[in-house]
Amino acid sequence: MKANKISVIGAGNVGAATAFSLMMNKVASEIVIYDIDHKKAEGEALDIYQGTSLVAPVLVNAGTIEDTKDSDIVIITAGAAQKPGETRLDLVNKNITIYQKLIPEIVAQNPNSILLVVSNPVDILTYITWKISGFPKERVIGSGTVLDTSRFKSSIAREFNIDARNVHGYIIGEHGDSEIAVYSRTNIGGITFDEYYKKQRIKEKGFKERIAKEVKNAAYEIISRKGYTNYAVAVAVTRICTAILRDEKSILTTSSYLDGQYHVSDVYLSTPTIIGRKGVLEILEFDLAAEEQLAFEESANIIKNMIKESNL
Ligand code: LAC
Repeated sequence: MKANKISVIGAGNVGAATAFSLMMNKVASEIVIYDIDHKKAEGEALDIYQGTSLVAPVLVNAGTIEDTKDSDIVIITAGAAQKPGETRLDLVNKNITIYQKLIPEIVAQNPNSILLVVSNPVDILTYITWKISGFPKERVIGSGTVLDTSRFKSSIAREFNIDARNVHGYIIGEHGDSEIAVYSRTNIGGITFDEYYKKQRIKEKGFKERIAKEVKNAAYEIISRKGYTNYAVAVAVTRICTAILRDEKSILTTSSYLDGQYHVSDVYLSTPTIIGRKGVLEILEFDLAAEEQLAFEESANIIKNMIKESNL
């Protein structure tokens, strides 16, 4: 199997958890961790590397941006993270400034890599990364709502007491407050959500809305308790990297560049996307329910207006 190299930019809570998850899942044979605080990066790399004898031979080192050279995937988690009460969009100006310096440095060392953006607001920062890098849109991907879709499936699975892997559905749009739960396309083992719900004899008015709200607010709930989120997003990023490096052609709701799909253009937003070794292979298009389509276009406008206001 070709040796795979993944670099993680940012050794904060998300970056460190992501590097750990990549090692535990044997996704890459080499992981380089970069942080402006090199000592922090070194500490995380040493701590992760010292578990590898119990998992698999994975080289884990702290490095400079130069040491990320020729990575297959560069995961970007650097930047300020949400604090209690902050929205993801509140971070935009701080993180745009960081990205405007960081992206050219990364690209100079990794002209052929896939860039996987995780920092928030991820849809805006993925768009900026694409613009600054000059890479084809297929090789610039945002983690988007892959995490939210997992939260959605897990919430439904818990309510119905079934395996979340048999819940099929999507959260699309902004990875944030305007995201949309696509109930019209959600099914449990091939049974439509509405049919399955009816069988459950759950008599709760607004059940669907409650689940969608829980998913949308999940990060706030976690941040209010532990100050940040990191594990589930690390697993989501690992899932995307696995689909890329194994050329799995998996359908994941990554933040991908839309060029007319779902009547939306020139924006990064999460939709069901086929992911393989070349990055974005195809954006799946299907009819949404009228209210879902409307909400999706509203979500796109929120992101596009934020980008416009940032004078990018
Ligand atoms: C969350 C962060 C990754 O949703 O935005 O947990």
